[in-house]
Amino acid sequence: MKRIGILTSGGDAPGMNAAIRAVTRTAISHGLEVFGIRYGFAGLVAGDFSPLTAEDVDHTINLGGTILYSARYPEMAQEEVQQKAVEQLKKHGIDAVIVIGGDGSYHGALALTRHGINSIGLPGTIDNDIPYTDYTIGYDTACETAMDAIDKIRDTASSHHRVFVVNVMGRECGDIAMRVGVASGADAIVIPERPYDVKEIAESLKRSFAKGKDHGIIVLAEGAMSADKFKDELLKYGDFDARANVLAHMQRGGRPTVEDRVNATKMGNYAVKLLLEGKGGLAVGFENNELSTHDILDLFDGKHEGDYALLDLNKDMTK
Ligand code: F6P
Repeated sequence: MKRIGILTSGGDAPGMNAAIRAVTRTAISHGLEVFGIRYGFAGLVAGDFSPLTAEDVDHTINLGGTILYSARYPEMAQEEVQQKAVEQLKKHGIDAVIVIGGDGSYHGALALTRHGINSIGLPGTIDNDIPYTDYTIGYDTACETAMDAIDKIRDTASSHHRVFVVNVMGRECGDIAMRVGVASGADAIVIPERPYDVKEIAESLKRSFAKGKDHGIIVLAEGAMSADKFKDELLKYGDFDARANVLAHMQRGGRPTVEDRVNATKMGNYAVKLLLEGKGGLAVGFENNELSTHDILDLFDGKHEGDYALLDLNKDMTK
């Protein structure tokens, strides 16, 4: 193996640049050449490659977004598209690829491996929804960003005795909502994976206001219901002054936290070492604070399990 490629795919996540930097620097220090593949799998098929030097990744560990750009590219599921991708890699003398992205990206990494190009997947998504890893690159920063926004929302909620329903990202996964909900002292956390009762939440808010509380915060995962609809449901059970707020893509941007920078660096470094051992078709994760690997195939049958105990913890914090 002489030359490896690296790409970012799917929704961007803070810390992806730290992983790109770690892959580039580790590979170069082991005598490999590195090519950055821009725009994810779409750029791979189009041959949008350029060499990456150790200097090219200077001053990137602190940047949000991805210097390689990203794209969602469902076409990669087609056999003829995969063939084109492999042709491009062979044309450029690239023997192996590291893919940083969410669940969809793993299909592409596995397809490349099956076509003889060893590929390793790193979990890069703010959602934290990948099976067999307790952590995904970008999750910590997204939680910090959402918590910071909710702290600000609370100021205005309190000034006006309002209830805010704050929608946080996470597609079908409530991990951001649960962690941010606890960290923000939310009155209720609503996630798609667990049942919820809007009437019960309204009754609990009424009791809190009756005891003198001057605001209410409900952290709602986007996969559960829209913030507007939830607010309207809530108003059926109480005469609240309520507002809906959608944090949306601001959660995907910004300077990565220490945790995201360090973990992304560890994962990028580990991925290159796996390739050097001749391994491919693997997904890197963190389980119980240790780097781990699983066959990418296992991920397709696996289910991410969130830390649902956070819901009970938060209930105990609600007066
Ligand atoms: O997967 C990351 C994510 O930000 C999800 O939380 C969200 O549902 C989705 O991407 C939004 O995708 P897009 O940026 O394509 O609208």
